[in-house]
Amino acid sequence: MKQQSIRLFIVATILFVFGLKNASAADNNLIENLLSQMTLEEKLGQMTLYSSGEDPLVPVFNPSYKQEIKEGRCGAIFASITPDSIRYLQELAMQSRLKIPMLFGYDVIHGYKTIFPIPLAQAASFNLDLIRKSAQVAATEASSRGINWFFGPMIDIARDARWGRVSEGAGEDPFLTSKVAVEMIKGYQGENLSERNNVAACAKHFAAYGAPIGGKDYNTVIMSLQELNDVYLAPHKAAADAQVASFMSAFNEINGMPCSANRELLTDILQKQWKYKGFVVTDFATIREFMNHGIAENEEQCAQLAIQAGVSMDMESGIYKAKYVENQLKSKSIDIEKIDEAVRRILTIKYRMGLFADPFKYCNSKTNELMTANNLTTAREIARESMVLLKNDKQTLPIKSDIRKIALIGPLADNQADMLGTWIAQGDTSDVVTLLQGLKKQLGTSAQVEYAQGCDIDTKRTSMFNKAIALAKKSDVIVVVLGEKGDMAGEAASRGNINLPGVQTALLKALYATKKPVILVLMNGRPLALEEEMNYCDAILEAWQPGTIAGDAIADVLLGKYNPSGKLPVTFPRCVGQVPIFYAAKSTGRPSDAKVRYSSRYLDIPFTPLFPFGFGLSYTTFEYSELSVSHPEIGLNDEITIQVKVKNSGKIAGQEVVQLYLKDDIGQLTRPVRELKGFQKIQLNAGESKVVTFTLKPSVDLIYTHADGTQNADAGKFTVFVGGNSDANLLHSFRVK
Ligand code: BGC
Repeated sequence: MKQQSIRLFIVATILFVFGLKNASAADNNLIENLLSQMTLEEKLGQMTLYSSGEDPLVPVFNPSYKQEIKEGRCGAIFASITPDSIRYLQELAMQSRLKIPMLFGYDVIHGYKTIFPIPLAQAASFNLDLIRKSAQVAATEASSRGINWFFGPMIDIARDARWGRVSEGAGEDPFLTSKVAVEMIKGYQGENLSERNNVAACAKHFAAYGAPIGGKDYNTVIMSLQELNDVYLAPHKAAADAQVASFMSAFNEINGMPCSANRELLTDILQKQWKYKGFVVTDFATIREFMNHGIAENEEQCAQLAIQAGVSMDMESGIYKAKYVENQLKSKSIDIEKIDEAVRRILTIKYRMGLFADPFKYCNSKTNELMTANNLTTAREIARESMVLLKNDKQTLPIKSDIRKIALIGPLADNQADMLGTWIAQGDTSDVVTLLQGLKKQLGTSAQVEYAQGCDIDTKRTSMFNKAIALAKKSDVIVVVLGEKGDMAGEAASRGNINLPGVQTALLKALYATKKPVILVLMNGRPLALEEEMNYCDAILEAWQPGTIAGDAIADVLLGKYNPSGKLPVTFPRCVGQVPIFYAAKSTGRPSDAKVRYSSRYLDIPFTPLFPFGFGLSYTTFEYSELSVSHPEIGLNDEITIQVKVKNSGKIAGQEVVQLYLKDDIGQLTRPVRELKGFQKIQLNAGESKVVTFTLKPSVDLIYTHADGTQNADAGKFTVFVGGNSDANLLHSFRVK
């Protein structure tokens, strides 16, 4: 037996070394061969992931895990973060009978050591090349430190600003999120998974985790088939098509069935319909949580439900154990084929990663890949492109070069701890450039920047107000930096109020009363309700949680070295009572009308958002004209070309995100009032014009889930809207035969 496994190892090495790209039959043989030698315990071992919690080289690491690894009863480890500890654990795996290498997973969500803006911010850049580049940097950094598997990208659609995890995804829109998902997967996995700089990705959370009732994390999800397919599953389908190595099954239930026990989701849709070949890992201990959901009585039943549903790997529940499975195999309540299929999928990914050929390949880096000058430049580029200019009265921004005294005020103006946001992997807050540092660096002696904290983020203390107001009074312009703490968004960070916490609004109001120009810079991980704050400032720059290089990037924008080009990937409500609010809503039979009482609206608050999806100003202006469509009528399998002229009508160069929305005017089912179907980010010099072209194919771009579950397009009239945000009103119609 031992000789046979050595032989397998040699064959795998040879295949890898010679890069036999077309050797899929040989790959399959190798994996089937290995599978045929595995005991039930070894198979279940491959299906088990433990979290190290701590460095395994220190005694806190659960000692029984070490034994299990040596016995081939653990296939992957999560959160072991130094090359030494990873090497140590992989060596234990190499002592096991079949020497199957382990995966080392980690939550790298927006950077490993160089922390990029939170994913929501990155989506606001609408710059897919930069998003891919940031993912590549994260993969290069982490893989140089032993990590070979990321628990990302997070591609949950989020339409409820109360849900803290809105910060981790690309916002409310399935089209944008799908595009971002694909680029992040490309950035992480590269062309070839076996290259050392690439890591296996994990699309999460499968599925509809972003739609908990009331925005409360982990809560129940109730959803129609149409919404599930067309909105929440769409980015996952894109990830499957992009060959993401793994999916993570979500904590939540959908319509009564927890996702990790959901056979329809994991087997029927993912494996059969989408023909997905990678594997599924659960979210943290979700299998054990079946008992809390009330669908399983004991651990044995939990294991049975998950295996039969199609979960390949259990994260942390530790209940994929022979003692739970043996009897169920005999009674046929578990099929051995389900277990074999799960193991086959895991082994295939490990094989594609080249781990059989060199289990230690990620532990041998000799060069420093962390926070290199190039990585920091990429971080700065994407941070400034992700910022959204929400208001700019009297051209308060950019700060004029003749300004001599800037009062920099606020609890986030010089606060390294709160600028990275959620999931900071190995990011170090002491590396963060604050805005105070960034402004001083760029202004040198040309202007004086003085700082006062003014207040805390979330206490009621007003004792620091006076000092801040005094400073404001002797300045030419006030820059106020307000927002949320770094951990106020993210997992288990739902908020019932989505306004600025603490006394920050009161501070802003007091500063505005000095009659000096007030520039509000916001740092937050979710859309905030800013209706009141709009009255107390001249300009607002949404900077999100911008990452390691925050202060440099914000200073670039404030000082006009970079002309802001970000657009909102989520709707900003006026107040929490409007939530959930999103642009791709249905008209209803009684479309909202402020003047009609019996229309879909509120008595006490408006129905329109404060800022629509896709919104963002620039230091220049853009004009749209000459919208045309190539054909007044097309067939289902034809293509239609839509063209629009965009002109930079201002005085400086700038970038614009040209957005195309579509409405199916008369559907077989009710359709959203408009849906994003294309965008292009273009650069225009002052006075310059460009014709931007989009192409739509009904059989791809116009389809949706019909009542019988099939996805197809309606015939009839469609309207396209083109412009700089989702309220775009330049429109044109065409018909589909
Ligand atoms: C989160 C996942 C994460 C996992 C491991 C869970 O609580 O929901 O997104 O990947 O923990 O850290």
